[in-house]
Amino acid sequence: MAIVNWVDLHGDELSRMRVLVTGAAGFIGSHLCDALVELGCQVIGLDDLTAGHQDNLLLARRIGGDRFRFVTGSILDRSTLTDCMSGCQVVFHVAALPSVPRSIKNPMAFHEVNVVGTQLVLEAAREAHVHRLIFSASSSSYGDSPTLPKVESMQPLPKSPYAANKLAGEHLVRAYADSYDIDAIALRYFNIFGPRQNASSPYSGVIAVFANQLLSNHSVTVNGVAYSRDFTFVDNAVHANLLAAKTTKPFGGQVVNVACGQGVTVMDLALAMAELLERSHLKPIQGPGRAGDVMHSVAQIDLARKVLGYTPIIDFQEGLKATVEWYQSAWRASERVAVTQLHQ
Ligand SMILES: NC(=O)c1ccc[n+]([C@@H]2O[C@H](COP(=O)([O-])OP(=O)(O)OC[C@H]3O[C@@H](n4cnc5c(N)ncnc54)[C@H](O)[C@@H]3O)[C@@H](O)[C@H]2O)c1
Repeated sequence: MAIVNWVDLHGDELSRMRVLVTGAAGFIGSHLCDALVELGCQVIGLDDLTAGHQDNLLLARRIGGDRFRFVTGSILDRSTLTDCMSGCQVVFHVAALPSVPRSIKNPMAFHEVNVVGTQLVLEAAREAHVHRLIFSASSSSYGDSPTLPKVESMQPLPKSPYAANKLAGEHLVRAYADSYDIDAIALRYFNIFGPRQNASSPYSGVIAVFANQLLSNHSVTVNGVAYSRDFTFVDNAVHANLLAAKTTKPFGGQVVNVACGQGVTVMDLALAMAELLERSHLKPIQGPGRAGDVMHSVAQIDLARKVLGYTPIIDFQEGLKATVEWYQSAWRASERVAVTQLHQ
């Protein structure tokens, strides 16, 4: 599944480092674990499995062997955090409840995990003398001011409880880096996609949803046809995290965009996916925009270039092809299971 050789890209600078990944069994967290074990790190993965799956960690377990330890538990549990943080130099705080529509329905549960949980992770990290914390932030913090591209110096205007939570997380990260002996950075991801992104939940990312609909031979519904997004393959987010772990200069809690710096409309995405899956006869259905969703979101990535030395390593087309192939093979595997069950 991997299209990047992390050792070729990052060498052995991180090997033997002990790190914690929260949200390890989720989509982005599991890819990060794969790369970290490949680079020779001792990795502790923490996840309460509310959305993550143990299956996502098969590769990390296989490559990492006894260098990979998985803990089932919540970031809201202080003693679990203390146990997981012990001896760690770097913490990748990836865990969150990540859905805009669900946060509108259930804002207090989102606040608890995304804001209180983030502060508990920061608190445990400073108590454990962790050197650096890398926070998975979100481009949703920008809101939908018409100014494009989105630059880190713009005033954030979150439009949903989820976006406000992630912005609060950034502020906590900065405050801890200012107030205590822990360095930190917030990586504002723009529409990350790739293998393992959950396709079965109604709150999944748009690429996962489209893949599911097309593979079931249904036309996709495009909510907000002219909406555009900076779709970013997951390996780019992993790459930014690894660069952040390797950088020696302190970040002081700053916020940095992680994206490709290129906008693609949701309609063009739907057409490209239909073509890759040989379902071009299924014409997309036009639907209204969803509450809380922003119209356009494209990043400027100059700051990431400057402070992290980041440039995207996988472009949109290559990432989309790899992702679609993964959904296709996962779909075939699930059909095989269904057929086997039918014959039992
Ligand atoms: N996917 C994107 O496009 C995107 C964009 C911007 C930001 N982000 C951020 O990236 C991070 C990862 O997102 P993802 O897409 O991989 O989502 P995901 O749902 O696949 O992963 C999140 C993981 O966190 C775990 N989790 C939730 N609550 C927890 C708790 N209390 N304790 C321990 N684990 C808990 C879940 O079980 C899940 O495995 C999140 O912080 C999200 O806000 C994602």
